Amino acid sequence: MSLTLVQAWTSAKKRLEAAQVDSPVIDARLLVEAAAAASRTDIISDPHRPLSAEQAATLDAYVGRRERREPVSHILGRKGFWKIMLGVNRHVLTPRPETEVIVDLALKSFPEGMAFSMLDLGVGSGAIALAILAERPAARGLGVDASEEALAVARENAANLGLAGRLALLRGDWTAGVDDASFDLVVSNPPYIATDVIETLQPEVRDHEPRLALDGGPDGLAPYRILATEILRVLKPGGVFAVEIGYDQSAAVEALFNEAGGYGVVTVKDLSNKDRVVTGTKNPLGNSGTMG
Ligand SMILES: C[S@@+](CC[C@H](N)C(=O)[O-])C[C@H]1O[C@@H](n2cnc3c(N)ncnc32)[C@H](O)[C@@H]1O
Repeated sequence: MSLTLVQAWTSAKKRLEAAQVDSPVIDARLLVEAAAAASRTDIISDPHRPLSAEQAATLDAYVGRRERREPVSHILGRKGFWKIMLGVNRHVLTPRPETEVIVDLALKSFPEGMAFSMLDLGVGSGAIALAILAERPAARGLGVDASEEALAVARENAANLGLAGRLALLRGDWTAGVDDASFDLVVSNPPYIATDVIETLQPEVRDHEPRLALDGGPDGLAPYRILATEILRVLKPGGVFAVEIGYDQSAAVEALFNEAGGYGVVTVKDLSNKDRVVTGTKNPLGNSGTMG
């Protein structure tokens, strides 16, 4: 007898619970939807719809991968971020909802219709840059990443979203090769986890996300020590920066940007009320802050 949607969901959920997956109900539903080509409402409105043998086998394989703590985003090969859908794989950080704080800040700083230039340092899947470009049709961006594999993901996402013409992608070490005062907006979600802490993270992150996207050096702050000075260098006077931080890094990262000459440096919290983004501008009057 073939498995129905609701039976498939229930048995997947039980297997994920036994594997101590954090969100077994949601994950089981997402995997059933994908394996059985069903919508969220199908599971409720048509719960007795049978899965084909092929769909049941696909679901079994998906659940097996999730039991081994592979993230749902890797199994499905996609993840929603802001208002866009992104392809993802093991070469990029799975975009996180808290990173949307950067997108929100950027959209508030640059109104629709405004032409501006943006640099995304550590572009990964392209999440931040593409979410902004999708809503700001006159903007153009450059995304830099040290990983060629990550850039391939960003390139494909840009093409799928019809944004390839406005997002240039460059392999490089942060701002190496970027001229002074080139951009109106610089965004970055750098790796910021202390090296020793990585081993204590959940297997989904520890074993499946790229180390290059996680490892912020011995205290997690190594990238900011470079980025603070470099972001202020490549920003145009009056330009805006926004960088994601770990929940306990606000004071240290604010200090680095203040030392580098940042103006109006503040920390913005995410929806969980945790410190999440340090933002500010480059003084339009020059780094001394005075005229003349
Ligand atoms: C935390 S991930 C952020 C990815 C994406 N921007 C996001 O928010 O989902 C950090 C990214 O920085 C890249 N990266 C790490 N070190 C770098 C470096 N020295 N220069 C450029 N990119 C680097 C990693 O390859 C990774 O894609």
